[in-house]
Amino acid sequence: MNTVIDNINYGPLAQLIGKWSGNTGLDIAPASDGSPDESPFTNEITFTVAGAAENAEEQELVAVKYHHVVRRSDNGHIFHDQIGHWIYEPSTQLVMHSLTIPRGVCLLAGGTIEDSNGESVFDVSATAGSETYGIVQSPFMLKKAKTNAFHIKMTIKNNQLTYREVTFLHIYGKDFEHIDTSTLQRVTYNQD
Ligand code: HEM
Repeated sequence: MNTVIDNINYGPLAQLIGKWSGNTGLDIAPASDGSPDESPFTNEITFTVAGAAENAEEQELVAVKYHHVVRRSDNGHIFHDQIGHWIYEPSTQLVMHSLTIPRGVCLLAGGTIEDSNGESVFDVSATAGSETYGIVQSPFMLKKAKTNAFHIKMTIKNNQLTYREVTFLHIYGKDFEHIDTSTLQRVTYNQD
C-alpha cells in the first residue's frame, strides 16, 4: 500500500487510516462485589492523519489520531469513548500510543510494531508511576479505581483489525484485570 500522504510517509501507521467496525466485542469490567461483569459490544474506530512532528530539532515523528466509540450490543448505548494518537519514529521503529477516556484517565504507552507474513502487531504498555510511559488519573480515580498498568496488542491483517487490551485496576479493595477484546473490519480508506 502507498504509505505516503501529503508528502509524509506514515510507514506502518498508514494501514490504520480509515474507518473500522466490529460487532463481536467483549468487555470484562469490575462489578461492585469484585466479580467480572461481561458485556458484549459493537465498536467503531476512525483513524485520520495527524501529520509529522519534530522534537528538539532531533526526533522525527509521524502520527495518526483516532476516535474509538463503543456501544452495548443489547441497547446501543455508548459505554466507552476514547481518543488518542498512535505515534511512530521511523529511525528507531519506536511506537507510542496516547489515550484519553472520559473517566479522568490519560496515558502514554510505548512499545513495538512487528511485521511478518503480511501481519502487523502493535504492542505497547504503560505503568502508573513511570515518568515516561505512564498514567495520569484524577484524585478520585487514584483513590477509588486506580489504573496500575495498561497493555494493548493490536493486530492488523487483510483489512481486519483485532485488539486485546488489559487495564490493570485496583478497585473495590482488590486487583482486577479489566479486559476488552474485539475484531473489526475495514469500512473505508478515507483519509480525513
Ligand atoms: C473497549 C474498551 C472499554 C470498555 C467497553 C470499557 C467499559 C467499562 C465498563 C462497562 C466499566 C464498568 C463501569 C461501571 O461499573 O459502571 C469500566 C470500568 C473502568 N474502566 Fe473501562 N472500558 C474500556 C477500556 C478502558 C480503558 C482503555 C481504560 C483505561 C486505560 C479503562 C478504565 C476503566 C476504569 C479505571 C474503570 C473503573 C471505574 C469503575 O468501574 O467504577 N477502561 N470500563
